Amino acid sequence: MHDFLARHLHPTPGKESDHKTKGLTLNSGWRYDLGEWFADSFSFAGKLGKLRQRTITLAHLQPGETVLDVGCGTGTLAIEAKIRVGTTGRVFGIDPGEEQIARAHTKAARRHIPIDFQVGVIEHLAFADQTFDVVLSTLMMHHLPAPLKRQGVAEIARVLKPGGRLVIADFTHKADRAGRATSFHAGGSRMHDLLTLLKEAGFERLETEEMPPARASSFPGVGFICAFKEEARR
Ligand SMILES: C[S@@+](CC[C@H](N)C(=O)[O-])C[C@H]1O[C@@H](n2cnc3c(N)ncnc32)[C@H](O)[C@@H]1O
Repeated sequence: MHDFLARHLHPTPGKESDHKTKGLTLNSGWRYDLGEWFADSFSFAGKLGKLRQRTITLAHLQPGETVLDVGCGTGTLAIEAKIRVGTTGRVFGIDPGEEQIARAHTKAARRHIPIDFQVGVIEHLAFADQTFDVVLSTLMMHHLPAPLKRQGVAEIARVLKPGGRLVIADFTHKADRAGRATSFHAGGSRMHDLLTLLKEAGFERLETEEMPPARASSFPGVGFICAFKEEARR
């Protein structure tokens, strides 16, 4: 990740989450939001905000739908999703970082937006089969080692209703970038690998799009994947 984000958003010694995962947990609460604001304002040319808006647009959220934000961080995307699904819809957000979840609670409560934020991990989602109309995930997949990505995608397939929608946005892999921002720490995700995992897990009608690296900024570029869980599965 960008140096600034890496310095400010990585787990603080002594404050690491108790929720065990082999994923890279962030646990910096309000400091995450502050670091992100600085990074987006001064390094990423506002692209982080735009990618969340694009994720919401691609999800085509409808009033009354039930939505899960996996790796929700401090809840910014989940809050936006709840506004879209309205009072009849429900939004859940999970993240292993207790400080992230505490901050998400605070932000939603301040705006009187009811969202069920829980400490949890993608590899063991604490929801019944076929619970959600839509699952969202932004900038989270590159935090997971490959076996966990596979496990996580299978869990997403399990909790989605047949025909349910998944939208993933993640930094693109440095090897897939044309010479820009190659020092970006986590290496991002290879869209091709994610697509393979999604097909294996029974997703169909997969579509991708790209938000390319921003000129004169260190924004490394983001790939989006939209997919549907097959109707007959599970
Ligand atoms: C870069 S942050 C993105 C947070 C949020 N989605 C956003 O767009 O701001 C990645 C998040 O993934 C979370 N994460 C790491 N391992 C995870 C796991 N096994 N399951 C779910 N989330 C995980 C981290 O704690 C962190 O909050």
